[in-house]
Amino acid sequence: MAKILITGGTGNLGKSLTRLLSEKNIPYVVGSRINNSGASNVAVMDLLKNEGIKEAVEGKEIIFHLATDPKNDTIASQNLLNAIDKNSNVQLIYISIVGIDKVPLSYYKQKLASENAIKACGIPYTILRATQFHELINQVISTALKFPLGLLPKKMVSQPISTEVVAQELFRLSLEKAENRTYEIGGAEILSVEQMAKEWLLQTGKKRWILNLPIPGTLGKSLRNGSLATINKKAESITWKQWLARCGSAYLR
Ligand SMILES: NC(=O)c1ccc[n+]([C@@H]2O[C@H](COP(=O)([O-])OP(=O)(O)OC[C@H]3O[C@@H](n4cnc5c(N)ncnc54)[C@H](OP(=O)(O)O)[C@@H]3O)[C@@H](O)[C@H]2O)c1
Repeated sequence: MAKILITGGTGNLGKSLTRLLSEKNIPYVVGSRINNSGASNVAVMDLLKNEGIKEAVEGKEIIFHLATDPKNDTIASQNLLNAIDKNSNVQLIYISIVGIDKVPLSYYKQKLASENAIKACGIPYTILRATQFHELINQVISTALKFPLGLLPKKMVSQPISTEVVAQELFRLSLEKAENRTYEIGGAEILSVEQMAKEWLLQTGKKRWILNLPIPGTLGKSLRNGSLATINKKAESITWKQWLARCGSAYLR
């Protein structure tokens, strides 16, 4: 029986982690709200409706908690924690975000509350805070540049990272004894959103006007001053330019 549960195993990061485990022939179960294919290693569970969680966590020794609901991340995490037998031999590995304690976004408040709930619940844990994934940056830029004039947050900087590298780090941490610690991981380079958008335009061949809008207040300041970046960079993470080139036309719309 698989001893590993991956909540959010169907997401961008989850897919990289399941690929890595499959390559290593390590069995795992994916927690998901749906199982269309009828795969035997999918546990149907809903972290918000609080359904199927107890069955999914039973007998697991490692739980990678990657699932997220942008509006209700804390409730989802709390429901997961409530379902875990505190006396069982389990360790929890939670993926969080660099800068959640500095950047005043409501989603980040949710993630911080999830971290605090994990720290307080008595289950051995490891928290890994990562910087923005390439897929997210691509989603934000492609949405902003959908029309001839695109609005971007002026001087905002980020340190995009590949989900493969984050998955490798999560796996590495899962091999160690959980010591209730929080780590950070970031991509190879820190870039402004404008720099990333220009590279995106270059590689997609699209023509757009870019207007850089200053974001006011503490939010704007934190987005400009590098709060989303970390000194713990992973040089082996491919760069934004390499990611764009690798993903080709499949991703870039
Ligand atoms: N995106 C980034 O740049 C970034 C950066 C740092 C950290 N993170 C963190 O990394 C994690 C994964 O991010 P991602 O971008 O890979 O996510 P994603 O692609 O948006 O996937 C979200 C996952 O959450 C699951 N999910 C959503 N609601 C659920 C519910 N009620 N019950 C059970 N599962 C539910 C979905 O599973 P089903 O649809 O199959 O149910 C899906 O697998 C998140 O915790 C996020 O905060 C993300």
